[in-house]
Amino acid sequence: MLFPRKKGGTEMSFRVLGTGSYVPPKVVTNDDLSQFLDTSDAWITQRVGVKERRFSVNETAAEMAAKAAKAALENSSVAPEEIDLILLATISGESQVPSTACVTQKLLGMSCMALEVSAACSAFDFALETAAGYFARGKVKKALVIGTERMSRILDWTDRGTAVIFGDGAGAVVLEAGENYIDSVFHVEGNEEILGFALPVGNSPYYERGQERKPLVYMDGQATFKFAVNAIVKDCDALVQRNGLTYADIAYIVPHQANMRIIDFAGRKLKVPMEKFCVNIDKYGNTSSASIPIALDELNRAGKLKRGDYLLLPAFGGGLASTCCLLKW
Ligand code: COA
Repeated sequence: MLFPRKKGGTEMSFRVLGTGSYVPPKVVTNDDLSQFLDTSDAWITQRVGVKERRFSVNETAAEMAAKAAKAALENSSVAPEEIDLILLATISGESQVPSTACVTQKLLGMSCMALEVSAACSAFDFALETAAGYFARGKVKKALVIGTERMSRILDWTDRGTAVIFGDGAGAVVLEAGENYIDSVFHVEGNEEILGFALPVGNSPYYERGQERKPLVYMDGQATFKFAVNAIVKDCDALVQRNGLTYADIAYIVPHQANMRIIDFAGRKLKVPMEKFCVNIDKYGNTSSASIPIALDELNRAGKLKRGDYLLLPAFGGGLASTCCLLKW
């Protein structure tokens, strides 16, 4: 766990200038998936809360990232050449080298530093924390933080337990130096059994046989569910309590969109009404690291955020990892 930030909010971090998002145009409904998976609209709606999701037909994770980033730059009235740093969260980019961050930088025509953050569904929060470090050191004045996922590329399309949950898309925020990143919590407990996505083992003539694992997403749904509900409750409570707030002070909770029932359970445990949760899982499914910035962009563009509003961004997923960030809008 990281130590709480200095009291009084005097440490230089950042404030959010604007947001953007992009989802591919191809809409895939639950009935569409039922054509080739043993599942149904009723099961997916009731157990997960997803009605439809977007899937890329030919767009890469970097192309979606660049579109979300352009929308965020426009929303912030910031020119691409003003950006000093790109931090990009993904697990589903097309290549390790160059990283999706580098490919996105090229697509945006930028020349600034670009770095990838790998922490599965919680990676957007990890990227915000990383950005805060650059701002605290005075190394950057403006930064782009992006979450982008082409989950369709890494899903096991024969596994109905995972294929119905995820979707593709990207979200981005433009940050500038400020003091509105108030606090954060991060928990990591290494675990390969519950949730994962292995890379191909390689073809070294020296390797022993039997190391190959399917290079596709796998998940123990029930164990993930329990981990997720506990994580949201514990992480939100920690930030609210140690910053002397109550949930009445929080304008919105913008959670990772993994499962409507997870959000619903967490809301009931926290005794926070559903109206305070920003939820769009019905439209996009779980877009992993992109889910929080997409939801944040929807809130922002709907005109629901006022300067000074407190927001909690709880996230959880592969690692296992869980995080939460407390922001002042
Ligand atoms: N359609 C129909 N039936 C399905 C199904 C689907 N898409 N997926 C699983 N089932 C079946 C199972 O095979 C099982 O059948 P059985 O009783 O005949 O064995 C039954 O539904 C119950 O399975 P179970 O895994 O106990 O269901 P569940 O209520 O736990 O729901 C999840 C499954 C995956 C929806 C749920 O566990 C979940 O959302 N977990 C968290 C996932 C998550 O958030 N992942 C991302 C983290 S970042």
